[in-house]
Amino acid sequence: MPKNIYLNTTEELIKHLNEDLPNESLIILDSALEQLQLHRNFNASHVYLEVSEETKNLETIEKIWEIMFLSNLNRSDEVVIIGGGVMLDLCSFAASTYKRGIAFTLVPSTLLAMVDASHGGKNGFNNVYGKNQIGTFNLPKSVVVCFELLNTLKDNDYKDGLIELVKHGLIGSKEIFNKLVSTENFKIDTEIIKKGIQIKEDIVKEDYLETGKRKYLNFGHTIGHLIEQDSKFTLSHGEAVAIGIIYELGLSKKHFGLPQEVVDLYISYLEKLEYKKSYEFENSIDYLLEILKDDKKSKSDSVDIVLLSDISQPNLISISFDELIEVIQN
Ligand code: GLY
Repeated sequence: MPKNIYLNTTEELIKHLNEDLPNESLIILDSALEQLQLHRNFNASHVYLEVSEETKNLETIEKIWEIMFLSNLNRSDEVVIIGGGVMLDLCSFAASTYKRGIAFTLVPSTLLAMVDASHGGKNGFNNVYGKNQIGTFNLPKSVVVCFELLNTLKDNDYKDGLIELVKHGLIGSKEIFNKLVSTENFKIDTEIIKKGIQIKEDIVKEDYLETGKRKYLNFGHTIGHLIEQDSKFTLSHGEAVAIGIIYELGLSKKHFGLPQEVVDLYISYLEKLEYKKSYEFENSIDYLLEILKDDKKSKSDSVDIVLLSDISQPNLISISFDELIEVIQN
């Protein structure tokens, strides 16, 4: 597993990158971070890139490869990628395939990327067949978590990260779940972030290629992804998964007797975050079935889904498309 480095300030981040990088490295930054002017103090060269879920595609990958060629990167050089999940997924795919792969370091700038995208080696992009349909597993050299970058986030982007963190709690830690649902001010301390990262890393260590246990990380995401795509991404990933979790907690109760108390605590947490608790699907059942079939966890008429018997007790079962469609229609 890559090294995780935890830093408090951007000053420490710049110092670390300047000391750690070979001279010919390239630092690629999310254009959302331009206001911080971090590049002023970098020794290595840098470039800003604008990315979004809509442009998480092959065209953007080609743009990133082009930047790498124009920077004359060779296989002994390194790339540092600073940004949110979309940025990390795209650039780490480009780095993993450029000249058959060059080393890269990830610096997540959002809470969501800190607790999810930067760990576990997944990268990739979307195509007409769905989200993240093309990609590789390839670990970074290190992940540098700089907590001061969280100050750049709008409340909603921060809350999107909390949804992923509460999911980590639901699948793997009563402590994280209880801490989050009982926090008055939704801002959390850095220890919880570190513990959330640990949950993911422990799972990935056991099942890097997602043949079993790693699927637990998809709790709430089977229906969350359906919502996200049905809404044409007008709902953020966090907003969609937040509602996906409600549906999947309901299925957990039905199939595995998950206590209602857990559902109630989760729903009151969403209320605290002022997040939506329901969603009206707009597209036809046929359209939703097409999305379900493209889910990497789908078979011909069923999908593998993670359901809980309790907090920290996930189970992987297969449920039919019919049952899933019925659930989201009610
Ligand atoms: N985001 C889920 C995973 O990394 O497996």
